[in-house]
Amino acid sequence: MPDIANPELADQGLNRIEYAWTEMPVLRSIYDRFEKERPLEGLVLAPCLHVTTETANLMRTLEAGGAKVHLCASNPLSTQDDTAAALVKHFNIDTHAIHGADRDLYYKHINSCIDAGPHITMDDGCDLVTTLIQERTEKLSGVIGGTEETTTGVVRLRAMAEDGVLPVPIIAVNDALTKHLFDNRYGTGQSTCDGIIRATNVLLAGKKFVIAGYGWCGRGLAMRAVGQGAHVIVTEINPVKALQAVMDGITVMTMEEAAPIGDIFVTVTGNINVVRREHMEKMHDGTILANSGHFDCELELTALEDMAVEKKRIRNNLDMYTMKDGRKLFLAGEGRLVNLAAAEGHPASVMDMSFANQALCTEYLKNNYKELETQVYPVPEDIDHKVADLKLASMGVQIDELTQQQIKYLSSWQEGT
Ligand code: ADE
Repeated sequence: MPDIANPELADQGLNRIEYAWTEMPVLRSIYDRFEKERPLEGLVLAPCLHVTTETANLMRTLEAGGAKVHLCASNPLSTQDDTAAALVKHFNIDTHAIHGADRDLYYKHINSCIDAGPHITMDDGCDLVTTLIQERTEKLSGVIGGTEETTTGVVRLRAMAEDGVLPVPIIAVNDALTKHLFDNRYGTGQSTCDGIIRATNVLLAGKKFVIAGYGWCGRGLAMRAVGQGAHVIVTEINPVKALQAVMDGITVMTMEEAAPIGDIFVTVTGNINVVRREHMEKMHDGTILANSGHFDCELELTALEDMAVEKKRIRNNLDMYTMKDGRKLFLAGEGRLVNLAAAEGHPASVMDMSFANQALCTEYLKNNYKELETQVYPVPEDIDHKVADLKLASMGVQIDELTQQQIKYLSSWQEGT
């Protein structure tokens, strides 16, 4: 039985899902093929993803391919209740997701999807696979493999493999070029600014905008913040990434140095307690804090709660913390990923590529699982290229082909200066 907040929101959800569909040409073309060929016939799938309009379009594609889908949320604050309602009413998809779910309900939903006995898991952050191996091992024997959508999840899965507890082969969809170069960069860049702006309506121009982490997400965010006229400061722990930021024209310093200077702080590191008590103690009155990494552990929220004499919700998705010395710090989206908690996540046209990879990797797993070992696998290159080809075709962009002479040249070594 599905578990959603409000079935009456279904028609509103349908409108938004259909609108997102118009921006997802690659997934639409996969849908058309899946509907004819039914390559996923007989498969039970347990996707644990952000329940957004884009995810809804992936779910309809997987069902068009013949799969039976049991969907749960991968974050308590990212669920769009109208989308969840539409999935149940208009697409007959068994959906377990409620915006604002507490921890118990969040895991109850994950367990409901595990109850269905999935053949393939589809995680965004690895909470479903973690639950499977920690609490639901009786369901493992039916699982043939899984996919993982995000960097944080891939890091957890690699740690599982290191510890010898990875239960099934998993494809790291995040690592496809047509995923992270676009979704992490342009998607996170735009949607994080969107989330901060919706939560605060603050003008980014002229602000000192501190970004912790210069991975693909941090880079995308820096690019967009610079474009809005912010003075971007990056903090890093990786010397190569720090150097890249410097050579991209961005000021790099430590968090300790940035703390008293920054107006807005955004964490995108995938790590824990990146902005800590000692930093928050130095921040000036009015500083805005946000996180766009997968988990809400990047800002030391327990310290923030502890330091505050008062906490007040002053706008949707914005809490004001008053410190003992009278300073006020503002936290967007409860420190959860601000692009999904306070906005709508990445736009459909970029999720088009990420979710095309998910659909094609699901088909790949079904066809190849017998040859796979319990490892974290990259997305097969032909899938990655296929997604890029389809996206370019949908944009009406043609590219050149290698001539015979060029093919020969590239495979030879004799010709030099
Ligand atoms: N992750 C980031 N943005 C997303 C979206 N719009 N839908 C699903 N997952 C996402």
